[in-house]
Amino acid sequence: MSIRLSSGKEIPIEMHKTRMIQKIQLKPVSERLKAIEEAGYNTFLLKTKDIFLDMLTDSGVNAMSDNQFAAMMNVDDAYAGSMTFYDFAKAVEDVLGFKYTMNVHQGRAAEHLLPKVFAKEGDVIPTNYHFTTTKAHIELLGSKVLEIYADLALETASKHPFKGNMDPQKLKNVIKKYGREKIAFVRMEATTNLLGGQPFSMENLKEIRRICTENKLILVLDGSLVGENAYLIKQREKGYENKTVAEIIREMCSLIDLYYMSGRKNTSVRGGCIASNNEELFNKIKPWLPVYEGFFTYGGMSMREIGAMAVGMREMVDPDVAGCSVEQIKYFVNRLTETGIPVVTPPGGLGCHLDAKKFLPNIPQSQYPAGALTAALYIASGIRGMERGTVSMDRDKDGREVFSDLELTRIAVPRRVYSISHIEYAIDRINWLYKHRDMIKGLKFTYEPPVLRFFLGKLEAIDNWGKTLGAAYRKELEEQPTVTVRAP
Ligand code: F0G
Repeated sequence: MSIRLSSGKEIPIEMHKTRMIQKIQLKPVSERLKAIEEAGYNTFLLKTKDIFLDMLTDSGVNAMSDNQFAAMMNVDDAYAGSMTFYDFAKAVEDVLGFKYTMNVHQGRAAEHLLPKVFAKEGDVIPTNYHFTTTKAHIELLGSKVLEIYADLALETASKHPFKGNMDPQKLKNVIKKYGREKIAFVRMEATTNLLGGQPFSMENLKEIRRICTENKLILVLDGSLVGENAYLIKQREKGYENKTVAEIIREMCSLIDLYYMSGRKNTSVRGGCIASNNEELFNKIKPWLPVYEGFFTYGGMSMREIGAMAVGMREMVDPDVAGCSVEQIKYFVNRLTETGIPVVTPPGGLGCHLDAKKFLPNIPQSQYPAGALTAALYIASGIRGMERGTVSMDRDKDGREVFSDLELTRIAVPRRVYSISHIEYAIDRINWLYKHRDMIKGLKFTYEPPVLRFFLGKLEAIDNWGKTLGAAYRKELEEQPTVTVRAP
């Protein structure tokens, strides 16, 4: 939640206390430069020993609660029929309202199974926006993703509260153009990761439900950030101010046919699930689970993680959990907006997103502005963010670049991990970087994998700009070397 200080200033306030910590260190800029060069200017390839604030993602790195750790110690290890799985299934029923559920090892396992079962070559899957792994799995099957977001979704500086909405008219046009037989399912993502964690409204979900029902289409929800989407509906949508996050999540789930999520986000564990009230749809997926994931009552997850996920599922509806990152992101984004830093607005879930096209207008998309900005942020701060632009798009079948709609540097805010002083440091270093933005140039690939190239690809800095930026930082801002404390 946020709290108003007596000065009138509002700050996010953590509704938990830290009872276990992990030490981090801030390496000098010369070492950071060496590390990013070795990583091929790809922050995925950095080692955590070289990272100060790890804001690559909020996936699998959130702080778990004491009750989640306790649950891990008290599970029923069995290949089949584990009672821990049934505890989890009960939590899904209580929280999401679905009678049928199965675990998968993480979100992309669900993204593999759904198109495998429901799509065939030549089919299309309309979505409010794609996610990288979703798109890869759909395209590997020969189906196609259709992005049917509202046009304003691509305006990075905006006041629109629900940039994650699907455009209902575009959905009707897709149905007319392709025919309902060619539409494997319609996919809504809460919140839209690659648009900057932007939520959709309940009104929009209801409208999409209506169109799906009229045309007998399956409506799928990717609920990886369902808690944040619900929290933002409560804050922004008329009629929902007095509903609880739990009630809003239940209402969202009541409008869809199939649910899946990466449990690595909202439930703060390492796993995922698929759930439904439609027995027929569910039973089409079920036989494939032991083929690709594991037996029905573990789905590739460890029982300890399923135990913790059952608790995390119940905890994710707590507004202090669902809103913890949202409030920090709001503070982060608003502070950057005050000094004119181009950042995605309004603040959403997931993280703070710098608009690299505006930050670095001189770098063409063919030289990956978001990749360059993400590497520059690391050099200037030790903060690891993630490129969410053209590097994150794969080439088309003919080897041509596919330019991303947006070029974003995502600075994720994992749940309950960082404090406001960490965020203040990030704000300061981003402002420094903005003043020195002319030093940053583009990148070019030295090694490019054939699929999801952003994970393992290596690049180099055009004209060695990393060294120039590092030298300027050393001159103006170098921190005191970190002091190593030895035991007496
Ligand atoms: N759907 C969404 C909306 C996601 O954000 C992710 C993962 C997945 C599916 C895939 O889930 O990682 O458990 O296999 N997003 C992570 C991120 C990787 O950093 O945003 P997964």
